[in-house]
Amino acid sequence: MSDFENLPIDDHSRQLLAEGGLRFGLVDTADSDMVRRWLLAEDRGFHDPLPSDELLAAQARDLQHDRVSGVWDPTSASPADPIGTVRSWLMGLTVPGGDTVSAWAISAVTVAPTHRRRGIARELLNSELRTAQRAGLPLAMLTVSEATIYSRFGFAPAADQATLTIDTNRVRWTGPVPGGRLHIVPPSSLLDAAPAIFARARVRFPGEIDRRPELWRYILGLNPLKHGERDDLVAVRYDDEAGDLQGFAVYRFEHEKTGYPSRLHVTDLVAATDDAYAALWRYLIEMDLISEVHAPLRSIDEPVAWQVSDRRAVQKTNEHDQLWLRILDVPALLSERQYFAPGAFVLTVSDNLGLADGEFLLTVDADGRGQAHPFSGADAPADAAHITLSIAELGALYLGGMSALVLARAGRVGEETTDAAARLDASFHSPYAPWVSTSF
Ligand SMILES: CC(C)(COP(=O)(O)OP(=O)(O)OC[C@H]1O[C@@H](n2cnc3c(N)ncnc32)[C@H](O)[C@@H]1OP(=O)(O)O)[C@@H](O)C(=O)NCCC(=O)NCCS
Repeated sequence: MSDFENLPIDDHSRQLLAEGGLRFGLVDTADSDMVRRWLLAEDRGFHDPLPSDELLAAQARDLQHDRVSGVWDPTSASPADPIGTVRSWLMGLTVPGGDTVSAWAISAVTVAPTHRRRGIARELLNSELRTAQRAGLPLAMLTVSEATIYSRFGFAPAADQATLTIDTNRVRWTGPVPGGRLHIVPPSSLLDAAPAIFARARVRFPGEIDRRPELWRYILGLNPLKHGERDDLVAVRYDDEAGDLQGFAVYRFEHEKTGYPSRLHVTDLVAATDDAYAALWRYLIEMDLISEVHAPLRSIDEPVAWQVSDRRAVQKTNEHDQLWLRILDVPALLSERQYFAPGAFVLTVSDNLGLADGEFLLTVDADGRGQAHPFSGADAPADAAHITLSIAELGALYLGGMSALVLARAGRVGEETTDAAARLDASFHSPYAPWVSTSF
């Protein structure tokens, strides 16, 4: 979409905030003073320490092509500093079956502590959703710091993350031993090749999202350091027997007082093939002088637990929802993903913001292709399963990780026909657990 970053501020929210004496507007990303003030307001919102000038300059570069908005209070002590921030951009999301849907990513939602709980964030979010919908996007998404804020806006958790901690003294590698080669390389040497490997890896996992160039620079240790960060990353790459790069891991050692490292911290592991996956994990787990491998940001469903001699040595902790979806166009989105059993479904969807409610018919053919459209009542097959749910529950189900049956038992979806939830699960459930390996 061209000129995305200049899509105008939603009139309704602008007027509402103006009635409270506040100005809601876009940040001109060519105006370095304005950008600097916006970035500092965002840092204040998340209680981050003051960034270095070098880091600020890098962050300013990173938001050049984003839609950056702020709220200003002309009566505050420093009226040029925003008291509210939000930022959005277009980002690809993998859906079940491996296709990519273009979504409206929202980030940097902050309101100054002096201005909280008077509805400013509400208008920031409402305006983002309405603008996204007007721009024709079928969904919005975000990663959340607090899980209690976003369901009122129709968002729901749809893809997860977990931390793996492997006690390497307890395990032998029992998985495959691929025939390719491993090479220790400077992380920066992966900058050109890593995005293509990731693009191949991510299509397997519903919930995975694009990684932007600035994220790659961060992952590969090329950005100015944030407060408390270290610059001691190591990378290993796996080339298959033909010599082609198929995966890599980035990691660092955590040194004990004795002088020996004893913990290996994996900051990223991307594998385009199962061979690359096995070779990289084997390399990390068999590292000498290491008693523990610690890997955050992993899937909740990692094969590595089945590739070692003692499954209990692989602990999964901090399992949590990471990516939240807000559906804006039900038929368009339902028609984008693959399904895993044929069927016909009538979905009666409520939406307290009135953006995407209605009754929809989804038919899934024998090849798993889905067609959805608003339902007139006339053309539903007699055996259609009928479900009543809110737009948030549909968001939770969309990537195929959540069970409609569980939501029905929780009283969150209604079954209007016998076994409707179980039939929905048979079609919707994804063989790969939805996973997102980053946050934004
Ligand atoms: C979270 C934050 C943006 C909220 O801003 P705000 O302007 O005070 O929020 P609003 O007054 O518009 O509140 C909107 C709704 O969200 C609720 N809400 C706001 N902050 C909340 C919180 N931290 N936890 C739970 N609910 C919250 C409000 O109660 C209100 O709901 P209601 O109208 O149904 O009662 C602000 O407190 C902040 O900047 N926090 C630190 C940064 C942060 O956590 N950002 C979120 C990133 S994921």
